[in-house]
Amino acid sequence: MSTTAISDEKIPNNVNLAGDRKLQRALEAWQPNFVSWWKEMGPYGFQTDDVYLRTAISVESDGWAHFNYVKMPDYRWGIFLAPAVADRTIGFGDNFGEPVWQQVPGEHRNTLRRLIVTQGDTEPASVEQQRMLGHTCPSVYDLRNLFQVNVEEGRHLWAMVYLLHSYFGRDGREEAEALLMRRSGDRDTPRILGAFNEPCTDWLSFFMFTFFTDRDGKFQLLALAESAFDPLSRTTRFMLTEEAHHMFVGETGVGRIVERTAELMEKNKVTHPDDVRKLGAIDLPTMQRYLNLWYSLSLDLFGGEISSNAASFFATGLKGRAKEDKYEDHRALDGTYAIDVVKDGAIATEQVPLRNAMNEILRDEYVADCQRGLDKWNRQLAAHNVEFKFELPNRRFHRHIGIYSDINADPSGKLISAADFAQRREDWLPSEKDKEYIRSLMQHPIFDPKQMANWISAPKQGIKGRPVDFEYVRRGEG
Ligand SMILES: [Fe+2]
Ligand SMILES: [Fe+2]
Repeated sequence: MSTTAISDEKIPNNVNLAGDRKLQRALEAWQPNFVSWWKEMGPYGFQTDDVYLRTAISVESDGWAHFNYVKMPDYRWGIFLAPAVADRTIGFGDNFGEPVWQQVPGEHRNTLRRLIVTQGDTEPASVEQQRMLGHTCPSVYDLRNLFQVNVEEGRHLWAMVYLLHSYFGRDGREEAEALLMRRSGDRDTPRILGAFNEPCTDWLSFFMFTFFTDRDGKFQLLALAESAFDPLSRTTRFMLTEEAHHMFVGETGVGRIVERTAELMEKNKVTHPDDVRKLGAIDLPTMQRYLNLWYSLSLDLFGGEISSNAASFFATGLKGRAKEDKYEDHRALDGTYAIDVVKDGAIATEQVPLRNAMNEILRDEYVADCQRGLDKWNRQLAAHNVEFKFELPNRRFHRHIGIYSDINADPSGKLISAADFAQRREDWLPSEKDKEYIRSLMQHPIFDPKQMANWISAPKQGIKGRPVDFEYVRRGEG
């Protein structure tokens, strides 16, 4: 058996779990709790359906997945690490060039555990946020994609729980339990990060979430893939292969709504949002407002612009920059980074030591990646002769974390008063009326594989060579 193939044990894995009885027993004890959580908080009302899902069967970059019908509670969640890189050395920070760690150094134990718990907490949180969406699905194709994202977020939780159980002793086991106890949006036991407590109860939000919020996940994983703690690096590297599909769901989901709206606008020669709504489509200003919301919530997930925590994560080798290889200076001790700060009610540029700006550097990469998606949607609009352009709001807009959290800015970044912000809020962020309209479009699910909701265009192709109208979900009994 190759070291990357996945075993057929109770818990599928490629980490030779059978060779560590104690760990195996601990994880086998956690497994039923996970399944209870899934049944309670996973997709509501679809647990007996047969869903055409991909399951990891190897961690090789080609052909790692297998597609077949499976009932979600029977999904083969497991523990998969990307292959070890021989003689891997630390790629950045004070210990640059030294061998990576196979165990957690005592002095970094608490910080590393916190990083892993914070990442792990987002995984079940998103499943909880999305658990009712199946009942308003625009097509069976989309329903299947939702469930694919959900089961893989469940597996990402497994990935983090494996690290907690293997390397953090009793504290780790307690954290693993707590990951199943918190609930997205719960007043008393919320999930750790803000965006993961926001309701995500309509499909426009879902596609924006998978585009913007899952993309934060991608960049956090890229930064953790650089970690000196090798097991964390290996597990996040494999998670990234799954994450790519979540990004695809978001980008093409929004893209298909854009396509449908643009097509209807062109055909019916309408431009006014009210006229677009009369056609049962989602008008572009409303999409822009949803975009503003999910983008700004996701920007917060990168943390403070000027951060001594980020500096120490980098110094110690816990968390690097995305694709550290492309940088020349891996110690980042000398440079500075220009950050716009707010001083006496005005914007002033401050030079910040490079290491303290690591959150902002990661955020820059994220912003550029988001922009690429918007450019694509804007090209679709142009192709239909629609004069509208989606824009990313300035990063000072609608922030709750970091140096812009106590100021108010318009989408262009101009500082304004709280009163002005409140007055213009509904121009920039989804209003109750917007949400009501979006809900009105999504009253019923579409379970006939031949049908597609009116407000979204059909995808160009199906999953894994299957036709778009393939029966991706077979509804179970009751
Ligand atoms: Fe994830
Ligand atoms: Fe994801």
